[in-house]
Amino acid sequence: MTALSVNVNKFALIRNARGADLPNLHNISKKCIEFGADGITVHPRPDERHAKFSDLEILKNLTSEFENIEFNIEGYPSNDFIQKVIRVKPDQVTLVPDPPDALTSSFGWDCEKNKDFLTEVIKKFKDNNIRVSIFINPSINTLSNLEIINPDRVELYTYDYAKNYHNDKILAIAPYVEVTKYLEKEFPYIEFNAGHDLNLGNLDFMLKNIPRIKEVSIGHALVCDAIDYGLKETVNRYKQIAQR
Ligand code: PXP
Repeated sequence: MTALSVNVNKFALIRNARGADLPNLHNISKKCIEFGADGITVHPRPDERHAKFSDLEILKNLTSEFENIEFNIEGYPSNDFIQKVIRVKPDQVTLVPDPPDALTSSFGWDCEKNKDFLTEVIKKFKDNNIRVSIFINPSINTLSNLEIINPDRVELYTYDYAKNYHNDKILAIAPYVEVTKYLEKEFPYIEFNAGHDLNLGNLDFMLKNIPRIKEVSIGHALVCDAIDYGLKETVNRYKQIAQR
């Protein structure tokens, strides 16, 4: 079974559009949990255009009220981000390499170039009992030094899979299967997450091919689906796929 973490960034974006508190992120996240989500994810960026750093403590308190509900914070590990995340102590931090002004995360870490940086940063989070996942491309070439960097998990960046799914899903999944097979063999203690552009159409095939995925974090498509089906039905549909 794979955990479904709902990325509530897009709800925060709507809230911020009017500079007020509608929808309220705590309430919408609580509903996601009550409707079946196993976790809540946010990606506070330096410009706070979606989730704000002031949301973190509120969401941490919310998720702590429930048993087995996780809070995951994504972001580039600047000094400021590290400090703020360690203060809040989420269950998991997902480190992404994208620059502050990026529209969305669009590539994984190069573990060769970032070996020392990642090793140091990951240690800081782990010393504070925060599980660390790093965002990776489906490419073995970028995954050197994992034994030194020592993340608990890697999050597969699934944009390419989603983009190519409709042309040829077997071809689309192939690099992900290859990379997870490599990781299973070389680093059996590293667990997998997955995220980006996963949706009701492509999620099932991803999880059938890589059933070891522990968690998917899904935001954009889920919020779009909620317009059609309502939030309860939407979370339920994703959850059913993740549970299969
Ligand atoms: N994982 C990471 C690292 C992300 O940056 C995002 C987008 O915030 C997601 C997963 C979720 O992607 P989507 O919104 O396309 O579901």
